[in-house]
Amino acid sequence: SSLYRFPLLPVRGIPLMNHIANSWDTIWAFRPDPSDILIATYPKSGTTWTQEIVDLLLHNGDADACKRAPTPERSPFLEIVSPPPIPSGIDLMKNMDPPRIIKTHLPFQLVPPAFWENKCKTIYVARNAKDNMVSYYHFACMSKTHPEPGPWEGYISKFMRGELAWGSWYDHVKGYWKEREKRNILYLFYEDMKENPRCEVERIMNYLDLSLSDEVISRIVELTSFEIMKENPMANYSCIPTHVFDNSISPFMRKGQVGDWRNHFTPEQSKMFAEDYDKKMKDVNIPFRTLI
Ligand code: PPS
Repeated sequence: SSLYRFPLLPVRGIPLMNHIANSWDTIWAFRPDPSDILIATYPKSGTTWTQEIVDLLLHNGDADACKRAPTPERSPFLEIVSPPPIPSGIDLMKNMDPPRIIKTHLPFQLVPPAFWENKCKTIYVARNAKDNMVSYYHFACMSKTHPEPGPWEGYISKFMRGELAWGSWYDHVKGYWKEREKRNILYLFYEDMKENPRCEVERIMNYLDLSLSDEVISRIVELTSFEIMKENPMANYSCIPTHVFDNSISPFMRKGQVGDWRNHFTPEQSKMFAEDYDKKMKDVNIPFRTLI
């Protein structure tokens, strides 16, 4: 079971899994097509959901077309270069025609510069810090590709110090927020997607210069609901063998809710976290909800 548990190595100060850090030059030199679409997120903030929405939008809501392969094969994960079970994003893209839906968890400053030179459309999804952390904690327990999360109490400290794979949540959400206008980044929130999925699907559609019928939009909203995606073998990560993603510890499609942090934080932890949060986030005004 300790098959992977990749250790983290810093790339320009950001802790990344060793195989990513060791292939950094290749990743940094990656050149997307101008039509490629980048979906950027801190881990566990709604990546897979957004990948599914965008794939369905590009296929006019054709559910069968979007079951042609599991998510990581339909939508390459840019910085995963080796080893299996998640296929190497850059290798996959060699055999895919643009526009490709590219997933990344890299913070803004580590995104290969050719994405900005080519003015690639970029969708960023942010999730409130506490739910994001809870989801990441359960994922690090079940996914043997992440370092052992250790006990919950200590995990909160690691999250606050930015010592998890892909670094600090605070710097991540701020980094893209500060660049969103200059780089024409569509900046979305997981909580908005939960509250009014149709509105957010339409925003993504408009951003991608697509125009689909009301009926197709309704179908996409339905097909990308948590309940449907959880049962979709091409969207629920059941393609990953159980010795890598141990679903008996926690399924990839775990709860898909806003506010699950209340079942994890003690009142003391919540208070301590909020005080630190206010200090770290006071220089920006990102409209996160549901923190209190
Ligand atoms: S990853 O590994 O970083 O790509 O994970 P990511 O897809 O970003 O985040 C996984 C969390 O998103 C939830 N999820 C959804 N929520 C609502 N609706 C839909 N359709 C959906 N699909 C995935 C998933 O359940 C994880 O959150 P938690 O809170 O752990 O359930």
